[in-house]
Amino acid sequence: MTDDASRAGVAEVLAYHDRTKHAFDRFAPALGYLDWATQPDPFRRYAGAPVVELPRRVPAAATAGPLTLDTLGECLRCAFGLTAWKQAGASRWALRSNPSSGNLHPTEAYVVAPEVTGEGWRVSHYAPREHALEQRAALGSVVPACPAGVCLVGLSSVHWREAWKYGERAFRYCQHDVGHAIGALIYAATTLGWRVRLLDGWSDADVAALLGVDRPLPKGVEVEHPDCLLAVGPGDVDAVVWSVPDPWLRAARVASWQGDANALSPSHVEWPAIDAVTVATQRVTRAAPVGRTHAGDSAHDVDPVGREWLIRRRSAVAFDGRGRLDHRAFARMAARLIPGGHPGSGLGPSPVWAALPWEPRIHPIWFVHRVDGLAPGIYAQPRVPSAISALRAGLRSDLLWEPVAGFDGLFLLAPLDARGLARRLSCDQDIAADGFIGMAMLAPLASALDAHGPACYRELFWESGLIGQVLYLEAERSGGRATGIGCFYDDAVHDVLGITGHTLQSLYHFSMGEPVEDRRLTTEPGYAWD
Ligand SMILES: Cc1cc2nc3c(=O)[nH]c(=O)nc-3n(C[C@H](O)[C@H](O)[C@H](O)COP(=O)(O)O)c2cc1C
Repeated sequence: MTDDASRAGVAEVLAYHDRTKHAFDRFAPALGYLDWATQPDPFRRYAGAPVVELPRRVPAAATAGPLTLDTLGECLRCAFGLTAWKQAGASRWALRSNPSSGNLHPTEAYVVAPEVTGEGWRVSHYAPREHALEQRAALGSVVPACPAGVCLVGLSSVHWREAWKYGERAFRYCQHDVGHAIGALIYAATTLGWRVRLLDGWSDADVAALLGVDRPLPKGVEVEHPDCLLAVGPGDVDAVVWSVPDPWLRAARVASWQGDANALSPSHVEWPAIDAVTVATQRVTRAAPVGRTHAGDSAHDVDPVGREWLIRRRSAVAFDGRGRLDHRAFARMAARLIPGGHPGSGLGPSPVWAALPWEPRIHPIWFVHRVDGLAPGIYAQPRVPSAISALRAGLRSDLLWEPVAGFDGLFLLAPLDARGLARRLSCDQDIAADGFIGMAMLAPLASALDAHGPACYRELFWESGLIGQVLYLEAERSGGRATGIGCFYDDAVHDVLGITGHTLQSLYHFSMGEPVEDRRLTTEPGYAWD
């Protein structure tokens, strides 16, 4: 991309970002009501594609299970499978291992795997309701460079699913959801002793061509936009980071593709602002992996998250306003967000950071309501020491920046009861105030876009979604529950923190506490056989 094109793209991104801010007196453009007649089908299917049912048994725990149909199925089930059906009156809806804004699930998952799903390499779409793979294309044995025990998982998004409810702001939510989905995949892989690497040497067009989502669709069938490709498995995932897409793409180009995508809604509302930001944030170049480092090894998680937490994870709909978080549990959560953890205190990082080829760019501002041994108030956690000065310079000058004893890299900014503030800023949602902690996630938006180009806008949301996924699972571990918060009054948050311009922007909010169950709902397992 030329400098001019990149500058124009950055301007487009900032314009989208600003016009999709919620304010006290004006929500981001949306329909303003739910058109139930066009509610999108949450399940994409490819009619006519051969279906491979995935095994319905849990493989015995292994330290590094080989890549088989059993283990692949288990990985997909724990990452993207159904984990509950809820019912209220006549409505019944599925919930999944990965969370999604409004439970609309824009993210589709594809697998490009060798022999295990049939002869040679195949591209398959994961159908979560059926827990099955729909075989879209056979690639033959064209990828000799790929090490044994590695497959690729590709993600794409149907923006319309989120736009149906949320209008223009939906693009942001789709990107959060991609981050959550990447996190869900990494945790699922880690339970099998597998590792994951995000492949950034692929352009969006490359990813689309391999997954087949760039193929012509009949009129009215919703487009899927390519998001990312990940190397997954017990084999040498690092070797795949260095491989080039061309042999895969040659095979995909000549393969015969099977299956017709279903239309998800009978009609659609156009959102040109989403179309524009989609184009502006396309990854058009193949990043050279040189110089991009992956932080450590996801297989050595000192605080592994158990399979049962992945299946049990749920968003709270309300918190009790009383529950407290244990000091040690908070320390572990904070450490899990740091790529190296806090080795001095024996607290390890989450395995998700090893999969990313970039340094942390999202930094938490914690709203501490009730944590044992910590004064209620607002805290900052720059996730790398090099971010401290930019954060200090970007926030109001009267904040304390007092290092918190026993917490590496945590700073008290202002001791106060932040409950009312957190609620007001988070679209007046009680969940932001009634939990034991809340969070705003800050990104150095302007400098990140300048340094890495407009496609980086999506990566910033992915990273915030990843932080959310880590915290969802840590909440389950600590006996509490969490909820992602996509709805917040952007510039009101910035005003409170003294942020001006686009130097820092809050991209995602989060809450965690002692949940109150909604007893009006009935719950059934995600799969009758499970
Ligand atoms: C990006 C994102 C934003 C969300 N925003 C909100 C929110 O503002 N308020 C809320 O109550 N829940 C929010 N949620 C929670 C979703 O409604 C929830 O994930 C979805 O209903 C699926 O339920 P589950 O998480 O239990 O699977 C959000 C979730 C995500 C992933």
